[in-house]
Amino acid sequence: MSDLGALIRSRRAIRKFRDGAVPERDMREVLEAARWAPSPANLQPARFIWVRDPKIKEELQALAAESKAMSAYWDPSFGPGGSSALVNDLRTPEVIAVCSDPAKSLTNVNDENGFEWAAAMSIYAMWLRAHSLGYGGVFVQHWLPDHAKRILNIPRLWRFLGTFTFGHAAEQKEQTRLPFDEVVFVDRFPGVARAR
Ligand SMILES: Cc1cc2nc3c(=O)[nH]c(=O)nc-3n(C[C@H](O)[C@H](O)[C@H](O)COP(=O)(O)O)c2cc1C
Repeated sequence: MSDLGALIRSRRAIRKFRDGAVPERDMREVLEAARWAPSPANLQPARFIWVRDPKIKEELQALAAESKAMSAYWDPSFGPGGSSALVNDLRTPEVIAVCSDPAKSLTNVNDENGFEWAAAMSIYAMWLRAHSLGYGGVFVQHWLPDHAKRILNIPRLWRFLGTFTFGHAAEQKEQTRLPFDEVVFVDRFPGVARAR
């Protein structure tokens, strides 16, 4: 798919995968997209762990279930029969864990979280690149982060963002978005402005 607009619109969150490895050259392409994402002052705080060992993937699979069960304590939609009960597949697809170094953030009068923004941009870049190569994928943020860090040997003070999983799609998804005029404003936020 060559048209970038069509690519952006047709990318979906794909959570069901067929067996079959992704060739190394495609893996590298997806990881290159992550590597070339922008970051504040080009500090490149994010790191990407390509989880290949089936034993580590099994540990993540168990943690994915535990993470959902923990959320279900507060929100039944994550529990059995709930609308968000699906435990993401960590066995079948390729798994790329994303972490980022808070020490590589600039002083910023807005917030000091540029390291997380940079990681997020890498994640979207990987998602689009995987889609452009014909794969389906999903970013999963729903993790007990300290447990994931222990499984993946991520340093304590680093932030674990989640996993981007992708592979051969076994489902097709439709999605909608809010209407253009509901999300895009001209000049100022709608409503009566307060005196400045
Ligand atoms: C920051 C972020 C966190 C997400 N976390 C999860 C997650 O934990 N599990 C999951 O299955 N999908 C997750 N998703 C996928 C969203 O549910 C999905 O992108 C959204 O429903 C829109 O669907 P679409 O991507 O097909 O357009 C996440 C997406 C984003 C951007």
